[in-house]
Amino acid sequence: MSKNPIGIFDSGVGGTSIFKEIHALLPYESIIYLADSKNAPYGNKSQQDILDLSIKNTEYLLSKKCKIIVVACNTATTNAIDYLRETYDLPFIGIEPAIKPAALNTRTRAVGILATKGTLSSQLFHKTSDLYANGIQVVEQVGEGIVPLIESGQLHSEEMKALLEAYLKPMLDANIDYLVLGCTHYPYLIPILKDLLPKEVKIIDSGLAVAKQTQAILSSKGILNSDKRKPSIKLYSNGNLEVMDAILNNAFETSYLEF
Ligand code: DGL
Repeated sequence: MSKNPIGIFDSGVGGTSIFKEIHALLPYESIIYLADSKNAPYGNKSQQDILDLSIKNTEYLLSKKCKIIVVACNTATTNAIDYLRETYDLPFIGIEPAIKPAALNTRTRAVGILATKGTLSSQLFHKTSDLYANGIQVVEQVGEGIVPLIESGQLHSEEMKALLEAYLKPMLDANIDYLVLGCTHYPYLIPILKDLLPKEVKIIDSGLAVAKQTQAILSSKGILNSDKRKPSIKLYSNGNLEVMDAILNNAFETSYLEF
């Protein structure tokens, strides 16, 4: 079992931001990554559709004997992880907007959160927000259009810059000092966001925390791989491979797969 791969899925290329953290922290683990780019974005779909797509991705990873599944998508985590955990007999790691550290550390008592509609409207997000952000102004912003731009290779475009400027404006007006990135595509925006934000505003991205949690769960279950040979790293997309290669700076081999 310990030699079996870690499975990771996302609605597209965004979850590679999590994949990279996991691979850096656990370099001997084999990994299968699924970018469901054909069905991106998940963020505007119904909860049932998000659930069905999450089940489809999970079943593929199970057929490849994954020992753990990382749902590298806030939208799928907040809408489907409870069902996945109840239904399948293996550990699932999810990612949710890191509202807690922002709420605990804010000095201006205002924090911004950029995420998909599916995440911001989920019960899980509201539960976390109510629990930790009591008395703090949370400026929620749906990142409409961001994922499609990234998925079509337009990360560094004028259109992206204009969208981000518009989305940050109400947050800056509210004097936020933390911006929580609530979508795994968004860490790729950090260089652009840094140009647009005053330097006092800190950006919170939870990729490393997810990798550490994956390590902790594998370790507690005694299924970390102790074999120090080169692992098998497979990154699959059912969409445009050029976009995935560009986002990964061609550092990994990628393949097209129907799933
Ligand atoms: N990476 C997904 C997330 O973290 C993007 C969602 C989408 O496809 O809209 O939410």
